[in-house]
Amino acid sequence: MILILLGPPGAGKGTQAKLLAQQYAIPHISTGDMFRDHKARGTPLGKKIQAIMDGGGLVTDDVTNELVKDRLSQPDVAPGFILDGYPRTVPQAQYLDLLLRSLGRKIDRVISYEVAEETVVDRIGGRRSCPKCGAIYHVTQNPPKRAGICDRDVTALVQRDDDKPEKIRKRLQEYGVKTEPLKRFYRERGLVAEVDGVGSPDGILAVTRKALGQ
Ligand code: AP5
Repeated sequence: MILILLGPPGAGKGTQAKLLAQQYAIPHISTGDMFRDHKARGTPLGKKIQAIMDGGGLVTDDVTNELVKDRLSQPDVAPGFILDGYPRTVPQAQYLDLLLRSLGRKIDRVISYEVAEETVVDRIGGRRSCPKCGAIYHVTQNPPKRAGICDRDVTALVQRDDDKPEKIRKRLQEYGVKTEPLKRFYRERGLVAEVDGVGSPDGILAVTRKALGQ
């Protein structure tokens, strides 16, 4: 199964992608996580994209497409995969179409998580994540057992550089202008299922599975 998760920053794409990846035993591919990994390792790509990401802008299509092309050449994607945060522009979606066609594959479903702006602003402001295992928490809605510490590996949780209030508005603006049009792009292909992104993560997972016919 090839799934794309759409939705504004903070809609819960990463949270749902992790749950879905477990359920279906397929990889979760997050371009945001891949870029953050490059930043953390200080690779040439990481240095190149640091300012763009920290400012809440989008990395260029060429760089992003190349990263995804490399990732989709790995053998673990054979049974399917979940794309979280990609594509994010119409040119990226057009590139993905061509790439998948060249691989003899196609998108099965696009899930669009619908969440109001004030909710996502609150979610992003309270998000903390584990720099070691990538687990995602929220200070009040999904807190770790010990404040500031990852339940899984006892690592100190961090706030993303782009999760500061002044960056959130810029990210939402970028989403509205560049990513929201993708809903129409995929709706015209009959691929979109809209899912209410408000509720418990497990409840939203159940609705998503239903939308996938599972
Ligand atoms: P990326 O990492 O993709 O960030 P994003 O799309 O802005 O999405 P977020 O990770 O902020 O939110 P999410 O929807 O995954 O929500 P989450 O599950 O964490 O991208 C970051 C940057 O990388 C971009 O700005 C750009 O610079 C670059 N980039 C990445 N991909 C790119 C591309 N394709 N092209 C160009 N540039 C690219 O949840 C959020 C919070 O809410 C958490 O605290 C969580 O615990 C909580 N929460 C989740 N679900 C619920 C729920 N049901 N109820 C209550 N709280 C919940």
